[in-house]
Amino acid sequence: ALILIVLILESLFIFRPLTRRIQKKADKLAASENKLRDITSALGEGVYVSDKEGRVTFMNPEAERLMGWSEAELLGKLISETVEVRRPDGELIPVNERLLTKTLGTGDSHKTHELHIARKDGALFCAAIVVTPIKNEGDVTGAVIAFHDIKNRKQAEEAMKAAKEKAEEATKIKDKFVSLVAHDLRTPLTVIIGMMGALVSKTGSNLSENQKDICRRAIKSGENMVDMIDRLLDISKLQTGRIKPERKQFDIHITVNACIEGFRPLADEKEIRIISEIPKGAKFHGDPYLIGEVIKNLVSNSIKFCGSGDEITVFVPSWDKTSLAVKDSGAGIKENVIKNLFKHEEKTSSIGTAGERGTGLGLPLSYDIIKAHGGELTVESIPGAGCIFCITLSKTI
Ligand SMILES: Nc1ncnc2c1ncn2[C@@H]1O[C@H](COP(=O)(O)OP(=O)(O)OP(=O)(O)O)[C@@H](O)[C@H]1O
Ligand SMILES: [Mg+2]
Repeated sequence: ALILIVLILESLFIFRPLTRRIQKKADKLAASENKLRDITSALGEGVYVSDKEGRVTFMNPEAERLMGWSEAELLGKLISETVEVRRPDGELIPVNERLLTKTLGTGDSHKTHELHIARKDGALFCAAIVVTPIKNEGDVTGAVIAFHDIKNRKQAEEAMKAAKEKAEEATKIKDKFVSLVAHDLRTPLTVIIGMMGALVSKTGSNLSENQKDICRRAIKSGENMVDMIDRLLDISKLQTGRIKPERKQFDIHITVNACIEGFRPLADEKEIRIISEIPKGAKFHGDPYLIGEVIKNLVSNSIKFCGSGDEITVFVPSWDKTSLAVKDSGAGIKENVIKNLFKHEEKTSSIGTAGERGTGLGLPLSYDIIKAHGGELTVESIPGAGCIFCITLSKTI
């Protein structure tokens, strides 16, 4: 009886605390598992844990929601035998190529941006997956698999792609339309100008001086229109890549001088001085014709907005041998106009100091030309005191 009493006492004092300790440990384990569940749920990612054989040991509610399987249904099951995974093209991924198999085999992390996982009901969902190994003293003891649904991202990507394609298609149609219309407008217009020219020519007619003056004004307007059409065609060709700038070395001194000489009579008439400070033999890289067109537009603008006594200088700024600047002491440009100068969609054209009119396409075209060279066209101005336009070409072309 004594032995029995001793045994009972022993069991009371030894086994009870032991069971209590075991219970405590189990509670702690359950608490830490719940904590893990809470943390992984808060991340918004589906997470499950696999042992080293690929059997599920833990699954969070987001993983249950995404896969359609409950944790209870998958616990202890080989995930590779239960859940099918396919490539984006629909091909089934063999077990030995699955990310989990690879991670358990090599101990490395693996991830993919897009895989199709079969839910319990057979429907597929697109997921991005990251598999990270769990290691104990260097040995792989399992892996954590985190994944999320990329449906929204994919939908956004597809919507963006469709919108881009639509916009590109619309641009193509617009460009085709512009060049078609522009081309068809140009031909009859040049005929009209030619015929009006015959009317005002010495041998052409017995029109009165007043009538000839009307014809000359009509011719001027017609010529402006041809100019505008040519620019529209050039812009369209540049934008669609039908004109690619030539890339060669050329003498910028000669180009600038030729341009200035062309404008000299007009400048003299308005009593404006034009000076080139480009050093003899200075070389530029790019398309000589197109860059010449830009310089012509800049100089013609300066002449247009300068008056008697003003000065225009073309020079290479000291800070950069790949730049060229056109500076004038004319009317300058207002702050609110400056920001729109290079935009095709904004009308910035204004009337010059001698009543000159323009198309307003000169600067947008110049900007496109310099951009097509990989360069920059910039402008600074003090209204009333003049402005300076600066072309900077890329050094690498
Ligand atoms: N040097 C300048 N001084 C003052 N204003 C200028 C100068 N250069 C450009 N601008 C302003 O910018 C506008 C747009 O110039 P842009 O060269 O694009 O067209 P435009 O000269 O009016 O027409 P086009 O070039 O077809 O003859 C001008 O009308 C003028 O208002
Ligand atoms: Mg102009």
